[in-house]
Amino acid sequence: MITDEDRRTRGVEAREDFVRDTWYPVLESKRLGRRPVRVTRLGRELVLWRDAQGQPVAQEAACPHRGADLSQGRVVGGCLECPYHGMRFAADGTCVRVPCEGKARPIRADLRVMGYAVRESLGLVWLWWGEQREELPPLPWNHELLGAGTGTCTATLTWNVPFARVMEGNLDLHHFPFAHRRWAPGMGTRLDPYTARLEGDIIHTHGVLREDDGKPWDGRSGFAAEIRVLFPHLLLARFGSLTQTMAAATPIDEENTWIVFRYRSQLPLVGGLVAWFLVQMEVRLIQPEDYALLRASEPRHPVRQDFHLVRADAGIALWFRLYERRLEAQRQNPGARPPMVRAL
Ligand code: FES
Ligand SMILES: [Fe+2]
Repeated sequence: MITDEDRRTRGVEAREDFVRDTWYPVLESKRLGRRPVRVTRLGRELVLWRDAQGQPVAQEAACPHRGADLSQGRVVGGCLECPYHGMRFAADGTCVRVPCEGKARPIRADLRVMGYAVRESLGLVWLWWGEQREELPPLPWNHELLGAGTGTCTATLTWNVPFARVMEGNLDLHHFPFAHRRWAPGMGTRLDPYTARLEGDIIHTHGVLREDDGKPWDGRSGFAAEIRVLFPHLLLARFGSLTQTMAAATPIDEENTWIVFRYRSQLPLVGGLVAWFLVQMEVRLIQPEDYALLRASEPRHPVRQDFHLVRADAGIALWFRLYERRLEAQRQNPGARPPMVRAL
């Protein structure tokens, strides 16, 4: 277990210091219907619900009156009603009804529920974790990521693995012939050629796993994969020419991570079926192997110096470089520390 002293001296993230000024996906749109939903994301207990226009709302789950769980309440007339004493809160956090006081009595102004900016796109609800600004940046990679339409299939996972470890696993190409050898018999173990480069906040990696036959690559053989990561948490990968996958990771808290991934197959007619099959493979066969490895990896909150990286880990090294720089910058600017929660 890493102590706070370790964190300070080794430059590891402070408790619950997640990468800020980022839109994180927090829930699949289809999970948010008429009833409020409770989730833990970024160390916060949240209630998600839809207002009268069907727009998603994210607020602190604890009622500001006496702390009841608002997700056990109901949505009435476009407001969220607390299950305990029936106080109602609008999407902007204002309390609009206090039944025990009667309609005529003014409502105290500080009785507000704190909320977060949210948007909905690509079949996901996204939450802004950062400073409130007049104008928030657009959703990241909104044109690159895969929509939830035809030919796609989506699944979510909750892992007892810290965020950085999840991202490290996402960027790893050369574990495949070992960690997943049952599903990739005969896959070559040499990652060559392999390139990893940084362009702004995007890590581009490209590699071919092939037989270690001592010869230069012939340009055809082996298993080619391309992975791009938009720092800190979005990934797009291409295996072959017809299959794409995306993954996004959001910290639940400092020990747990929520992961959403989506496959898209462009095969005509059977694309949806292929995507479904690939997601089943991932969820039932491949991801459990990754999970077992990552969950048991030590330390749970590594810094780059804990590793002995090799050339094939260059993408991971780039990610950690960005991560450590970003957390360091956040530490230098404690004034903007989360929770940056306001009534919206
Ligand atoms: S605790 Fe929510 S209305 Fe009293
Ligand atoms: Fe894996």
